[in-house]
Amino acid sequence: MKLWGGRFTKPTNQLVEEFNASILFDKELVEEDIQGSLAHVAMLGKCGILPKEDVEQISAGLKKILARVRRGEVQFSIEHEDIHMNIEKLLMDEIGSVGGKLHTGRSRNDQVALDMHLYIRRQTMELVRLLLQLQEVLLMQAEQQIDTILPGYTHLQRAQPVRFSHHLLAYASMFERDIERLVDSYKRVNTCPLGAGAIAGTTFPIDRRYVAEKLGFDRIYDNSMDAVSDRDYLVEFLSISSLIMTHLSRLSEELILWSSEEFQYIELDDAFCTGSSMMPQKKNPDIPELIRGKTGRVCGHLVSLLMTLKALPLTYNKDMQEDKEGVFDTVKTLTGSLELMAEILKTMKVNQKRMKQNVEQGFANATDLADYLVNKGIPFRKAHEIVGKLVLYCLKQEKFLLDCSLEEFQSFAPEIEQDIYDHLDPISVVEARKSEGGTAKEQVQKTLTKKKVKLAQFSDWLTSKMNKEASVNI
Ligand code: ARG
Repeated sequence: MKLWGGRFTKPTNQLVEEFNASILFDKELVEEDIQGSLAHVAMLGKCGILPKEDVEQISAGLKKILARVRRGEVQFSIEHEDIHMNIEKLLMDEIGSVGGKLHTGRSRNDQVALDMHLYIRRQTMELVRLLLQLQEVLLMQAEQQIDTILPGYTHLQRAQPVRFSHHLLAYASMFERDIERLVDSYKRVNTCPLGAGAIAGTTFPIDRRYVAEKLGFDRIYDNSMDAVSDRDYLVEFLSISSLIMTHLSRLSEELILWSSEEFQYIELDDAFCTGSSMMPQKKNPDIPELIRGKTGRVCGHLVSLLMTLKALPLTYNKDMQEDKEGVFDTVKTLTGSLELMAEILKTMKVNQKRMKQNVEQGFANATDLADYLVNKGIPFRKAHEIVGKLVLYCLKQEKFLLDCSLEEFQSFAPEIEQDIYDHLDPISVVEARKSEGGTAKEQVQKTLTKKKVKLAQFSDWLTSKMNKEASVNI
C-alpha cells in the first residue's frame, strides 16, 4: 500500500512506478532528508503539535535509520518512489504507526526544497574549499615563476612577452571571481523553505523560524508559493559551475598545448598522464582533455534546467524532479576536476629555457620598437608602419629585430640609436610595462599580494560558515 494510497482503487502500473520514481538518484539526499525531518519533528514538539513522547520516538527512530544508512544496511525501494517516502516507510517499520505523525504540517513539496537547500549549501562550501586549494597552488607557482618569461599570445600568435606568473594570475583572477559568486549565492541558498506546506502554508501553529534557526538558515522564504516553486538557486549554482568549468577548460587547453612537443613549455607529471595502447612513445594529457570535455555536460545541465523551468506554472510540478540528476552530476564533475587541476598544476615542470627561446626567436618586441620611435617624436601610426616594414625585411633576411645592425635599423628610421639593443631585450620589454595590472615585476608582485589577502579573507569566510554548519547538531 502506498503512503498516499487512500483514494486509489488500483495498484500503480509497473511502467509508471519506474518512470515516476526518483529514489535511484535522490537517495543522494538521505542525510539532508533525515536532518530536515529531525528539525521538523523537534519543532512540532516545541509548538505542542505533537506530544513529547511521540517526538522522542520519532527522533530516535530517524537516528537509528540514519545510523543504518551510514553502515550501508538500508535498501531503498522504487515502490516508495523517492527518498522522502522511503524514509517515512522505514520509520514506520521501525517505530510503528506513530511514525505517521512525522509528516504533520509538511508536504514533500517543501521537504524536497529543504533537502536541496541543505545540499547546495554544503556543496557551495565544498566548492569554495576546492577553489581555494586550487588558488593556493596557482599563487605558489606564480611566486616561483616570477622571473620566467614566455610569449603572450593573441589569436594564438606570439604577441608580447609576459611573465609566466602574470599568465597564471589571470586564471587566479577568474577563480577569485568564481569564489565571489559562490559566496554571494550562499545568501540566497541559505533561505529556509520548510513550513510552506504543499503550496499555501499550514493550519498547524508551526514555528518556521525555529526550524530555520535549528538548521542554520539565515532567513526564511517570505512567500509559501515561491518557497515550493523556486529553483533559482539551482540555476545559479549550475551557472556558477558552468563558468568554473569554462575557466578550467581554458586552462586545460593551455596545459594541453603547452605540454605538446610543438610548445614544450611544461611537462605534466607522469602520475597525471596516460599512455597509448599502440604507440609506445605517447604520454597523453588525458586529465586536462577530460576536464575540457566535461565542461560540455555541466553547461548542458544548466541549459537543461532552464528549459525544464521555462513557462512552468506555479507552484510545484513534477517536472521539477528533473532538477536533481544534473545538479548531482555537476557536483561530482566539478569536485573531481578542481581537485585534479590543483594536483596537475602543483606537479607540472616548467621549461623556462624553451619559453625564453620562443620569446627571443620572434617579434614579440615589435611594439616596443614602435613605442621607442613614438618617444622620438614619430606619430604612433607612422612608427607602426616603419616597424611593420622592418619586420618584413627581417623575415626575408631570416633574422629577428635584435640581429639587425645599427645601420640596418637606421636605414628604416634614422632616429634609432645604440640604446635600441637594451630597449628591445625581453626583460626590458617586460619591465617597461609598469602600468597598473601590467606584466612588470613590481606590478605582478602587487597583484600577487592582493590575491593572497583575498585568499585569506575567503578562507575566513569559509571557516565561519563551516563552523556554523558544524554547530547544526540535530
Ligand atoms: N521526488 C519529488 C521531487 O524530486 C519530491 C516532491 C514530490 N512532490 C509531489 N507532490 N509529488 O521533486
